[in-house]
Amino acid sequence: MNPSEQLACYTREVEQVIEAWLPKEEGYQKHLIEAMNYSMKAGGKRLRPLFMREVYRLFGGEGREVEPFMAAIEMIHTFSLVHDDLPCMDNDEFRRGLPTTWVKYGYDMAVLAGDALFIQAMETASKAFSMTDRADIVGRCIQILSSKAGIYGMIGGQTVDVELTGSPLDAEQLDFIFRLKTGALLEAPMMIGALLGGADEAQLKTVEEMAAAIGMAFQIQDDILDVTSSQDVLGKPVGSDEKNNKTTYVSLYGLEQAMADVERRSSQALECLKTLPGNHEFLEHLIRLLVTREK
Ligand code: IPE
Ligand code: IPE
Ligand code: MG
Ligand code: MG
Ligand code: MG
Repeated sequence: MNPSEQLACYTREVEQVIEAWLPKEEGYQKHLIEAMNYSMKAGGKRLRPLFMREVYRLFGGEGREVEPFMAAIEMIHTFSLVHDDLPCMDNDEFRRGLPTTWVKYGYDMAVLAGDALFIQAMETASKAFSMTDRADIVGRCIQILSSKAGIYGMIGGQTVDVELTGSPLDAEQLDFIFRLKTGALLEAPMMIGALLGGADEAQLKTVEEMAAAIGMAFQIQDDILDVTSSQDVLGKPVGSDEKNNKTTYVSLYGLEQAMADVERRSSQALECLKTLPGNHEFLEHLIRLLVTREK
């Protein structure tokens, strides 16, 4: 298999894992569960669980206790998107090629579906306790999952992003926002994969550093695509940042510098990867993809 066939194959496998952990659409709360699963099943690149599983394998992991965590990180990421699209936030009507959750199910259900996805993620992750005898490691992974999603992670970044919308940002503020709103949710899956796979503390630090660089490259490219791509390719609206009067990496540094910095950050990530054990081939491909990705 060449790397792009491998990516398609791995993505299908990840989709199956995610699907297996989705709640059943039944009971009086059926409508809410449908709203949760609507966004989860809408597709997306599934990068976070893909990265988690690859890093897990890198350190020799071959069990299944990583699977509930793969579903959990995608639930948290999807929750962040469902709320990010709300009228009170980015006010976007298209995501993953479909109308956003609030457009399809209403503002009220979209708020609840986002909340519920987050809680569901924590419950799902906790299922890993009965899948391994390393309860200490599972506990630590749950702690990482919550802290990288919370006030010192994704929510913290989104807060500053939303609060400072409309005012000009400086480099330090933008860096803070990117590290938290996007970096944290890439650090969590790779650190969890590393811990479950058997990484030691020094390796865990390297993985966190690698993921942080990937997160920066990823959000810079997201800002670039908001200017250069199309809704057909992206599956979400372009021009969202300008519409909302946001300072972006492109508005602050210009397109050329932004593109160069995606490369620079990806190279930093590849440097970290070099020092880690195991077979790197596919991970390397995934990281290089960040530079050339069109969606
Ligand atoms: C979008 O993430 C939000 C950002 C952090 C930039 P993705 O680009 O990974 O979205 P999906 O999961 O593929 O839809
Ligand atoms: C949001 O950044 C990152 C999240 C934590 C959801 P954006 O607002 O740029 O993400 P998109 O472009 O809507 O996917
Ligand atoms: Mg946003
Ligand atoms: Mg947005
Ligand atoms: Mg964006």
